[in-house]
Amino acid sequence: MRRPHALFLPFPAQGHILPLMELAYRMASQGFTITFINTHFNHARLLSSTTTPPSFNFISIPDGMQPEDDRNDIAKLCHALLKFTPLHLLQLINTMNTQESDKPTCFIADEAMAWALDVAKKTGLRSAAFSTSSANTYTNMRSVQCLIELGIINEHDGSAKKPGQVFILSPGIPPMNVDHLHWNCFLDSESNKIMFEYIVNNNKELKNADHEFVIFNSFYEAEKAVFNYLNSSKMLPIGPLLSKHSSSVSLSRCFWADDKTCKSWLDKQCDNSVIYVAFGSLAILDERQFQELALGLTLTGRPFLWVIRPDITGKATTSLLERFEDVIGDRGKVVEWSPQEEVLAHPALACFITHCGWNSTMESVSNGVPFLCWPYFADQNLNQSYICDVWKIGLKMMPNENGLITKEEIRGKVEELVGDEGMKKRALALKEMALKSLDKGGSSFENFITFINAMKDDV
Ligand code: UDX
Repeated sequence: MRRPHALFLPFPAQGHILPLMELAYRMASQGFTITFINTHFNHARLLSSTTTPPSFNFISIPDGMQPEDDRNDIAKLCHALLKFTPLHLLQLINTMNTQESDKPTCFIADEAMAWALDVAKKTGLRSAAFSTSSANTYTNMRSVQCLIELGIINEHDGSAKKPGQVFILSPGIPPMNVDHLHWNCFLDSESNKIMFEYIVNNNKELKNADHEFVIFNSFYEAEKAVFNYLNSSKMLPIGPLLSKHSSSVSLSRCFWADDKTCKSWLDKQCDNSVIYVAFGSLAILDERQFQELALGLTLTGRPFLWVIRPDITGKATTSLLERFEDVIGDRGKVVEWSPQEEVLAHPALACFITHCGWNSTMESVSNGVPFLCWPYFADQNLNQSYICDVWKIGLKMMPNENGLITKEEIRGKVEELVGDEGMKKRALALKEMALKSLDKGGSSFENFITFINAMKDDV
């Protein structure tokens, strides 16, 4: 019998590479040979940030952009990907297929790269799409036609017909503000339009593809209403995908190297005292907001661990950090990149100030840490609704009339959150559900077994 060989293709962004790589590790431990395909640009970044490269085949293809182009401009990146990458992927798989020992047997494509499912079809590979966002976001993206027919969005660019309109897709699904639809949350209307077109194209590809499953980095109990609405045995939540469950935690899977001093600093803090602040891999804060955050953290009088990515303000942060050295003082620990999963699991944590990226959301849920929500773009407003309105395990940071989240707001919300026993209790209850879903007999565990057995079938 041949060993099953799975190809993986993530969308070229950190928040997508991480969960796909986690799934790759899990499938490797179930006997799959793995080939993980990044773009040349990300491939080089990942290899340069680590001394322990992954143990599986790690290869790359072009992303269609020029070396000097800004890959954090997601709309531009999507445009280039669609135009140039399918052909490179097709050539790569055709070449692999010519060597009997190398032949792939299945293809796991990021749902945000749904065009790749067509390549899988053309090359005769069985396939699955992997959603790195919530099932709620997935459902909203697939509802474009329905939203047009209901007169909620405009057909040509997906913008709101009535800005601020709140609607419900189906009873039980969280109410949605049309302005918070995924494609309406990019940097300007031009980017929103490009993203809308990209999502419309993905919808078409998903409809025409022969993929056998859509799998989610989520768990049924967290999104019951949405999974019931999707009502399909082909839509399988298999998360939360946490690296501690695959022993891949020691291998760097990130563009930046973990700052290992976080752990010893956290060890010195009291239980349930530290504010953890991190905005994922893409969010940008302007300098005024950065300053307000530094002052707000100081005002809380609590210890804080703050991840300041080298590009968090869109330019070099060295001089900014020097300016705020006194403000941050001894109570604050600043790092460029943390081992976030380990940080969130530490007993010293009291709360998480987050941009509500879906990975951060799942990681915090899995550790019972309550949230202070500060969404930036894409699906993050939707995730905030889950956290604050559905699960009720976090509070929203409210900007003032100038769009600024003030230091007083930060101090006030931190105090309100950490003083709320009910919030902590609910967060711990959801954590239990998340962990139970991963145990033998749990919903995510069983879905994962169904999925890998199907991917191994006939090999
Ligand atoms: C993006 C989108 O913003 C997100 O909403 C979408 O669902 C996935 O892609 P990103 O903005 O990077 O991701 O946020 P998030 O989804 O939270 O992913 C960030 C990942 O980086 C997390 O897994 C987190 O653990 C990790 N991280 C972050 C670190 O390991 N260290 C850090 O210091 C910060």
